[in-house]
Amino acid sequence: MRSNIIAICNQKGGVGKTTTAINLAAALAATGKKILIIDLDPQGNASTGLGIDYVDRNKSIYEVLAKSITFDESVKKTDIENLFVIPSNVELSGIEPELANESDKAFVLKKLINNSNSINVFDYIFIDCPPALSLLTVMAMTAANSVLVPLQCEFFALEGLSQLIKTVDRVHKNLNPLLSIDGIILTMFDKRNKLSTQVAMDVKKHLQEKVFETMIPRNVRVSEAPSFGMPVIIYDRKSKGSQAYLKLAAEILKKDKSREAA
Ligand SMILES: Nc1ncnc2c1ncn2[C@@H]1O[C@H](COP(=O)(O)OP(=O)(O)OP(=O)(O)O)[C@@H](O)[C@H]1O
Ligand SMILES: [Mg+2]
Repeated sequence: MRSNIIAICNQKGGVGKTTTAINLAAALAATGKKILIIDLDPQGNASTGLGIDYVDRNKSIYEVLAKSITFDESVKKTDIENLFVIPSNVELSGIEPELANESDKAFVLKKLINNSNSINVFDYIFIDCPPALSLLTVMAMTAANSVLVPLQCEFFALEGLSQLIKTVDRVHKNLNPLLSIDGIILTMFDKRNKLSTQVAMDVKKHLQEKVFETMIPRNVRVSEAPSFGMPVIIYDRKSKGSQAYLKLAAEILKKDKSREAA
């Protein structure tokens, strides 16, 4: 078995990348799959949302990329069964100049994952990307099999999407022939809001089968959970947000199964 590696990307900030990383991962972990989240954002939101204290973030993805520790050494257990994380801290924001002299900068993360034991252990590895089309995001896309794009149901959602698609195409052509967008997940959907419904319809019309059937509703329990360091399915399993992420996990498992069969 080799892990299915999924980069969660959108250069727009605050669209639900980290929320999707944590909650989709927790929902898949609840089905018995072994999941690793790589927190590749210097903000460290995924680490916080999974309840990792700042003092426990010294074996971070920064140290891994700087080659002071191995990939496997940085993998940390969370309080949730089957769910592991490689934390991040603010030092990661300084990694780009440190890698300036590497010849294959874009491949640094891919090589580290491929040479790790983790790739034989985890069913899924999710990479939570920062809100930029920076080297970190390109490294994630180079290491991944696919890109998952959270798109917020609001007016400016589609702005920037074409630039993101261009970046994925460029990485596909030059760095990673496996890569595709697979797929788009509509987040913070509010069915009482006409604009939200309109945006969801437009996105589905234009991007069709790339868009997951499951939409993530705007739900206050989803936004509260990270302050308790928990995924929403642990914080409030019955909430609309939990149910949506469980449904998304089932949709992904089904898609992957039919792909394996094909
Ligand atoms: N379904 C939802 N319902 C309510 N609030 C949500 C939902 N999804 C995300 N949020 C809230 O929206 C904010 C942005 O979400 P999140 O941090 O996941 O976005 P992001 O794309 O990772 O942001 P960044 O670009 O800064 O990394 C957070 O405060 C989060 O709690
Ligand atoms: Mg984030």
